[in-house]
Amino acid sequence: MENFEPEIVAFCCHYCAYTAADMAGSKRISYPPNVKIIRVPCTGKVDAIHIMKALEKGADGVYVAGCLEGDCHFKNGNTRAGYRVAHVQKILEELGWEKERVEMIRMSAGMGELFARTASEFTEKIKQLGPSPVKYINTDNHQKAAI
Ligand code: FES
Repeated sequence: MENFEPEIVAFCCHYCAYTAADMAGSKRISYPPNVKIIRVPCTGKVDAIHIMKALEKGADGVYVAGCLEGDCHFKNGNTRAGYRVAHVQKILEELGWEKERVEMIRMSAGMGELFARTASEFTEKIKQLGPSPVKYINTDNHQKAAI
């Protein structure tokens, strides 16, 4: 789809990815404005329903960015988040969606470049996949309502 600008939600742990995003900003490393960051105290606080809700509300892709393995400030929040992301990917597959619309990413607070690169690569991947199927459903409903 031409000129498709995906809407992407990034649930970012306060201790790592959020700080890395801040670092990218202070180093003037740009990343696509498509990525809307939601700061969370730990990715362990992100439940499957939060990811599904973001998709239902029109996000074309969602990623959860947490601390590196073994570095979670709440012991294993990032591990639990990884399981939940995998669970949502399975649900998406069962629905016939691309599971790549959802991803778990790990980084440390000092990885500003990685944050920016991840945001760019994820945005590019979602551009290739096209708009979320939810948007087609909504468009269908709008068209039906107009008839
Ligand atoms: Fe960062 Fe748990 S504190 S993922």
